[in-house]
Amino acid sequence: MAGAPTPPTEQGRPDPDAARALYERHADTYDAQTGWAGPDRARVVSLLDLRPGDTVVDVGCGTGLCFAAIEARIGPSGRLVGIEPCLDMLTQAGQRADRLGWSNVDLRLGLPEDQMRPDDDLDAALFCFTHDVLRSRAALEAIVGRLRPGGRAAAVGPMWAPWWAPAMNLLVWYVASDYVTTFEGFSEPWSHLADLVPGLEVERHDLAGEYFAWGEMTGNRP
Ligand SMILES: C[S@@+](CC[C@H](N)C(=O)[O-])C[C@H]1O[C@@H](n2cnc3c(N)ncnc32)[C@H](O)[C@@H]1O
Repeated sequence: MAGAPTPPTEQGRPDPDAARALYERHADTYDAQTGWAGPDRARVVSLLDLRPGDTVVDVGCGTGLCFAAIEARIGPSGRLVGIEPCLDMLTQAGQRADRLGWSNVDLRLGLPEDQMRPDDDLDAALFCFTHDVLRSRAALEAIVGRLRPGGRAAAVGPMWAPWWAPAMNLLVWYVASDYVTTFEGFSEPWSHLADLVPGLEVERHDLAGEYFAWGEMTGNRP
């Protein structure tokens, strides 16, 4: 018999099996539950500075809530790769793409470290509310390794507020507990990404318990 889910801790590593189970429970109600994050999604996509024809990966794409903002920028000549380990979430992403007639969406079920291909030449990588991915070095190396020179990465997500704001941290913990499998790195969730994307810029919204991070791989686009 399946036990109760293990609560995320500060020490644990991201647990993809636990994440799948968590998001199987969320899938039907996810869009309504997280509609409040729409402005953050719009902003993090804008930080990618997308152009028509770009190839973008939406890592941990969930139900595809960032797809419309991406599609509006890359147009039909671009390509949108969505990677997601939870089938129920990815199915909804596929239904969204079908409903809206986006034929340039390539959805992949699984983990980034298994789903990236040698011929994936990426102009941009999006990490939108994907703490587990940002704390997985293997996932980040697989994605960032496919970014072209001049390619961009952008992330948004929750983080701990300062220690002297315990009420905010209680709220962050309460909300995030249901969406992450670890709180490891929650003080600086972007730290592994900063190792891989030189000059990563970080905008901390400390009192809101949230950050944005973005950067560009050195070199010019071919
Ligand atoms: C909070 S949701 C964010 C979904 C979407 N990016 C959005 O903005 O709504 C986190 C997503 O990351 C996925 N995820 C969890 N662990 C992952 C991993 N190791 N690799 C890729 N995706 C993962 C979850 O299944 C879930 O769909």
